[in-house]
Amino acid sequence: MSGLPNALDAFFMPFTPNRRFKAKPRLLSRAEGMYYFTPAGEPVLDGTSGMWCSNAGHARAPIVQAIARAAANLDFAPSFNLAHPAAFELAARLAGILPEGLEHVFYCNSGSEAVDTALKAALAFHRARGQPGRTRLVGRERAYHGVGFGGISVGGIAGNRKPFANSLLGGVDHLPHTHDLSRNAFSKGQPRHGAELADALDRLVALHDPSTIAAVIVEPVAGSTGVLVPPIGYLERLRTLCDAHGILLIFDEVITGFGRTGAAFASQRVGVRPDIVTLAKGLTNAAVPMGAVVVSPTIYDGILAGADGLIEFPHGYTYSAHPLAVAAALATLDLYRDEGLFDRAASLAPLWEQAVHSLRGEPYVIDIRNIGLMAAIELAPRPGQAGERGQDIFHAAFDSGLLIRVTGDTIALSPPLIITESQIGEIVEGLRANLRKLG
Ligand SMILES: Cc1ncc(COP(=O)(O)O)c(C=O)c1O
Repeated sequence: MSGLPNALDAFFMPFTPNRRFKAKPRLLSRAEGMYYFTPAGEPVLDGTSGMWCSNAGHARAPIVQAIARAAANLDFAPSFNLAHPAAFELAARLAGILPEGLEHVFYCNSGSEAVDTALKAALAFHRARGQPGRTRLVGRERAYHGVGFGGISVGGIAGNRKPFANSLLGGVDHLPHTHDLSRNAFSKGQPRHGAELADALDRLVALHDPSTIAAVIVEPVAGSTGVLVPPIGYLERLRTLCDAHGILLIFDEVITGFGRTGAAFASQRVGVRPDIVTLAKGLTNAAVPMGAVVVSPTIYDGILAGADGLIEFPHGYTYSAHPLAVAAALATLDLYRDEGLFDRAASLAPLWEQAVHSLRGEPYVIDIRNIGLMAAIELAPRPGQAGERGQDIFHAAFDSGLLIRVTGDTIALSPPLIITESQIGEIVEGLRANLRKLG
């Protein structure tokens, strides 16, 4: 057995150039710790935690065992009108590590579902408190909030919106993105310039009247678009403006949650508390799909008190609080705590910063940015062929035993938080060698 599928066409692959991939497939058949393995048994060092999600490394025994036990004990339990005890335990555990005041957990199965759930919770809250006119949602250019219609509407990645342009949600505006190469190139940590970009919210408030605006949603660090770290003071300013106008602030922490920025959550790292937070990915170490939305008591109590039906929030998924996902999440939180992985990310961050910034001056590198254990290396696009250089470096790195992520011509790195100092060196030197080989 080669381990290779005998036909590739049946799988309609997500976010992948299907034809190009199927002409030269690169497959993963096993994972352990910091490594993936190809069907031929070649190790591939994971510089991206899978897809920003396996923060504790791969196939960790306590998580594997917890999932196996759950599958044998309670394979499924409905969460509509019933529940299983571990779902409550996990909600309390999450509330215990989130910033104070984020206390009520709604379960779903992905980041996309978390985003749509959060937007609906914001609308439901305003309606329940007698402000049903607050329906306008504000996202940001270059944001990635998953692929639901809500998520792509508030999202700001043009290519993801274009095929569905006439079917997006109405009443959505976008703040400007914060990427500013002319002022902030090669910033280490939070860039100095750009806090004033948050003031665009004031313009939207003036244009539409605050009584029409329900929520602002941002990724505290924009991930999928290529790691845009918030300028110093930017998120604080957004918080102040939202408070001034009765607008809810949603942080999409699907990527930044669970230690990525060197704190449990980015909101703690930057000291800004949102009203609603979305989670997924690192929540279960990605071993079982799961997402969650956590809301403040004001929102939870408001929806429960002011709803006009027996069911206060008519929303939910068959797999909300799926027992396997809950078991995986509890075991994951134990691992994060027992191995001190959030602190580990913080203590490795200075070395990480120094290592990635050592790539300045390598071929095509026009910017490097970082926070916690995430970083981006932006390459100049090949003239008239945006994204091709990114594809080339992705393939070359993989073939040399290194998994990176690319978005257009930007390399994004987010290794598991168990990474060693020498593996940080391997990632950076591997990239350096591949950059020098790029045609
Ligand atoms: C910030 C953010 N929100 C939402 C999502 C969507 O998550 P999923 O792919 O699990 O639907 C992602 C995925 O990368 C993300 O980065």
